[in-house]
Amino acid sequence: MSDVLTMRVVDGIGVVEIDSPPVNALGFNVRKGLWQGFETHIADPAVKAIVLICGGRTFFAGADITEFGKPVQEPDLRQVIDLVESSPKPTIAAIHGTALGGGYELSLGCNYRVAVPSAKVGLPEVNLGLLPGAGGTQRLPRIVGVEAALDIMLSGAPMAAGKAQKLGMVDAVVEEGRLEEGAIAFAKTVVAEGKPLVKVRDRAVEANPDAVAAMTKKYSRLFKGFKAAANIVKTVEAATSLPFDQGMARERELFLELRGSNESKAQRYAFFAERATTKVPDIGKDVAILPVKSVGVIGAGTMGGGITMNFVQAGLPVTLVEMNQEALDRGLGVIRKNYERSASKGSITAEQVETYMGLIKPALGLEALGEVDLVIEAVFEEMSVKKDIFGKLDTICKQGAILASNTSFLDVNEIASATSRPEWVVGLHFFSPANVMRLLEVVRGAKTSKEVIATSMELAKTIRKVPVLAGVCFGFIANRIMAKRTIQAEQMVVEGVPPARIDKVGTDYGFAVGSFGMMDIVGLDVLTRGQTERSLRGDFVAAGRLGQKSGGGFYNYDENRKASHSEEAAKLIADFAAYKGIAQNPDQSDEDILFRLLLPVANEGAKCLEEGIALRASDIDMACILGYNWPLYTGGPMFWADTIGLPRVLEKLKEFQAKFGDEFKPAALLEKLAAEGKSFTGE
Ligand code: 3HC
Repeated sequence: MSDVLTMRVVDGIGVVEIDSPPVNALGFNVRKGLWQGFETHIADPAVKAIVLICGGRTFFAGADITEFGKPVQEPDLRQVIDLVESSPKPTIAAIHGTALGGGYELSLGCNYRVAVPSAKVGLPEVNLGLLPGAGGTQRLPRIVGVEAALDIMLSGAPMAAGKAQKLGMVDAVVEEGRLEEGAIAFAKTVVAEGKPLVKVRDRAVEANPDAVAAMTKKYSRLFKGFKAAANIVKTVEAATSLPFDQGMARERELFLELRGSNESKAQRYAFFAERATTKVPDIGKDVAILPVKSVGVIGAGTMGGGITMNFVQAGLPVTLVEMNQEALDRGLGVIRKNYERSASKGSITAEQVETYMGLIKPALGLEALGEVDLVIEAVFEEMSVKKDIFGKLDTICKQGAILASNTSFLDVNEIASATSRPEWVVGLHFFSPANVMRLLEVVRGAKTSKEVIATSMELAKTIRKVPVLAGVCFGFIANRIMAKRTIQAEQMVVEGVPPARIDKVGTDYGFAVGSFGMMDIVGLDVLTRGQTERSLRGDFVAAGRLGQKSGGGFYNYDENRKASHSEEAAKLIADFAAYKGIAQNPDQSDEDILFRLLLPVANEGAKCLEEGIALRASDIDMACILGYNWPLYTGGPMFWADTIGLPRVLEKLKEFQAKFGDEFKPAALLEKLAAEGKSFTGE
């Protein structure tokens, strides 16, 4: 018998139990077990109805994503669901944990679905660039109608059992912790009442073009770059216009199209990449995770405020320190305003606003941080200021407190040297806005202890961030490598390529905003702070063109912040090019503009790998996706370079190096991998 299958018969009800940790993904072994279990109970005359249940933490969490791209071993999931659906005996899925994707689709092959209150159901395939490919697109609309089905499949969001019951996606909710008993009792009632065996496939569903239009509008962002949403809509339209079996054939066709696409491959890669970031080779499960029950944040500016919000939302009290009352009041005011805005939009309640604000303890002076478990410094980027603060923290903070800096560029080892306990010092680099962006770079200093790193990784989870481990260097991972894009954008603009053209290449690739649009948002004065030499941005600042806030930077802006061409900006650029004696070369192809912007990013990523700054290529990709909104469906710079092919990447870099200089010098690792026919990501 299959090693993941257990079978029993209880009062005439056959139970098929599958237990395949960690999440009962529907891989070959599990499908084989299901086949065996159902065949056996269907054939057994003593069995009057069949309950399908899972051991472990969850019902089936979906198809086994690691099997995609490999030859399918039969029975495939659709065959298993056909077997379940064709059972002459009532079938009941008993759901706990998360019944997702193929898991929920399998339950739709049963006559009934029973769940505990904490269970969730959903079809999240869209997040992997896929559509529900085991009948979900054809069966779900037959239960909830076109509008709700599209909403569920396009959002990909799991739904709580209670709500699912209201929609008919779950037939009964049974007592928590007593799922098997509840499902067996339900099965007995079905048998006793002799209810007809209704199959979901036999239900009717009506077309609803208005709902299709409304949902297409609601999820419009998924119809650019991503491919899955459009195919999901097509399958649901097929459900209403074709007989069930033809609809299933259409679903298959559209599923296979997605499965083979680079977009879905990138999204599946990102799914595993996100989960890989916490795996640090020299830090095993034996390394202690230290308790962090209270936090101190130094600096109530934009970063400090955003950082504070993360912790209070996770229920941790934060002592927020500023040096004067005015700055403290201003910082608290901004946090309150942010929460009140969320409350007015309905994303949090008015009580939550007060709960969060109540967890913030404002304080003047570092002395208030004596007893906190973790301090995060988020003050001005100036080494002498940071060293002064860390020196004081060393005398104020209790032993065993983690001392973190939110520095974006500075040397964490030098900061740590201001203390007598460098093993307790770490970089925790948040990305702005810190309460929104999911990336947290955990910067490991030369002396940072393993416990501090392990605790930082765990802490990231607590505040719903994805931690990426980085070594000490200027800019760490994301800022260091993405700076290469900005350098090239500025270089091309002084060569005479208009900013709007460069930005369009970036937005066509999938960035929400182009390089110049972004600089105008951040503010050119902010970006030139501390600069002494003449620079293009400096010229803009001198001319009073600071960006959006002054009505103009690289673009002009109207009152709705809509950008348009600026003659004044064009003149500033031309003057700067003349001052620098830059040869004009405005006729560059879109492909060359894209490659000039982004290949240096991947090349710098390769240098980070060589130097051990990043642990793996997929960490670099996560840093760019989550810290810089690199378009997910291209997989990040390293995955994208792999899809182009490293020999071609190398060839282009060499071509650019010959034309434009050593900024394009290929990394040794890139040369090596290209020569060996390998890739960065192994994909
Ligand atoms: N296939 C293979 N491995 C999976 C998996 C899947 N569907 N789902 C989770 N895993 C693995 C994870 O990679 C992780 O492995 P690791 O421990 O080696 O890193 C392990 O299971 C635990 O996962 P999480 O760390 O994510 O655990 P959580 O408890 O935080 O979350 C979960 C559990 C909510 C189930 C989450 O893992 C999840 O969302 N999984 C994906 C669900 C999904 O997308 N299902 C649809 C799959 S596609 C499909 O079904 C196609 C069909 O329509 C034909």
